[in-house]
Amino acid sequence: MAKIAVLGYGTVGSGIVEVISRNGDLIAGRIGETLEVKYILDIRDFPGDPFADRVVHDIDVILQDPEISVVCETMGGQQPAFEFSKRALCAKKSVCTSNKELVASHGAELIELAKENGCNYLFEASVGGGIPIIRPLNTSLTAERVVEITGILNGTTNYILTKMKSEKAPFSDLLRRAQEKGYAERNPEADIEGYDACRKIAILGSLMTGKTVDYRDIYTEGISDIAPEDFAYAQAIGTTIKLLATVKEDADGYLAAVAPLMLSDENPLAGINNVFNAIVVHGNMQGETMYYGKGAGKLATASAVVADVIDCVKHPGKHVICLWSKERIALKDFSKVRSKFFVRTAISDLETAGEVFGRIEPVRLAQLPEEFGFVTQEMSEAEFAQKQQKLPGFLKRIRIKD
Ligand code: HSE
Repeated sequence: MAKIAVLGYGTVGSGIVEVISRNGDLIAGRIGETLEVKYILDIRDFPGDPFADRVVHDIDVILQDPEISVVCETMGGQQPAFEFSKRALCAKKSVCTSNKELVASHGAELIELAKENGCNYLFEASVGGGIPIIRPLNTSLTAERVVEITGILNGTTNYILTKMKSEKAPFSDLLRRAQEKGYAERNPEADIEGYDACRKIAILGSLMTGKTVDYRDIYTEGISDIAPEDFAYAQAIGTTIKLLATVKEDADGYLAAVAPLMLSDENPLAGINNVFNAIVVHGNMQGETMYYGKGAGKLATASAVVADVIDCVKHPGKHVICLWSKERIALKDFSKVRSKFFVRTAISDLETAGEVFGRIEPVRLAQLPEEFGFVTQEMSEAEFAQKQQKLPGFLKRIRIKD
């Protein structure tokens, strides 16, 4: 019998209990041991819950119990999750987490601590919910030099963008629906403004480089400015709009960014809809591999945490190597990053746009007679910012994926 503790009885924490209850026999058959949730740490009580008798309020009960070998941290946020995780690792208990905020900010340190204590800090569920992506990067792709990872890493925003395109429903209604389905963060600004995707790409970038991609260095733009009209323009030029997170190595160094992009309907990421996430990894030998699945939601995410628990139980006392050092990668100055842009501006700018941006092909929509759109040549962010100033009726720009 392997006894574990769950820290935080919220969406993911209660999902872990459910996955173990429903699939317990199956898991026991596979690993030759039964998993038992001995403790659930939460500040609340849960009268009437079938697991109410496991609820404790003091972390020391868990840390001092020699029967506990694995702790699932699903509290989210920095503190007390960071403190509790460090203390659990120092007590030689492996920690399995879905807490991307903590992994993005302290992943290297917690992995090192796990190594020193002969246990593990595993975080499959921190990126892409139920999608296996951390383990493939740490195992199946270790013969590759990974040069780019690009993905749709936030279920809430992908759900909103998908429905905005198909139903033209208002943003606030769609966000409420995503919250009801348990996809959104407690503070949904983290989803909408791209901060959640930013942390996830920082984690993937750190695994790609073996050093730390600091999430604070990543250019991040969310979807709060995207409207149904943008999808009409996107459709007119054979594209759709997705919130993409990317980390890429090129001749001048590393680029990392999160932003809504127009991408060709032919791009495999264009067909990823609703809460689903997908991640494309470019390796120098294999070329592209793609990972797809539910990027948010109680059971999908919980299942990934339980898979990490199973890994720990199957390999007691063994530290699984994960290369991620504290050394911080210097990312490319975003003002020098080059793209094409789709611009929306007032119809009165028709002539000026040609003078400023060179030859353009105006895109007109019957429902928006006061404006037009056009695609620019490839240019740096800094060049674009200068040119944009010269359009008096400038409305909006969306970058175009190369
Ligand atoms: N709020 C996150 C999302 C949950 O929508 O993707 C999974 O990390």
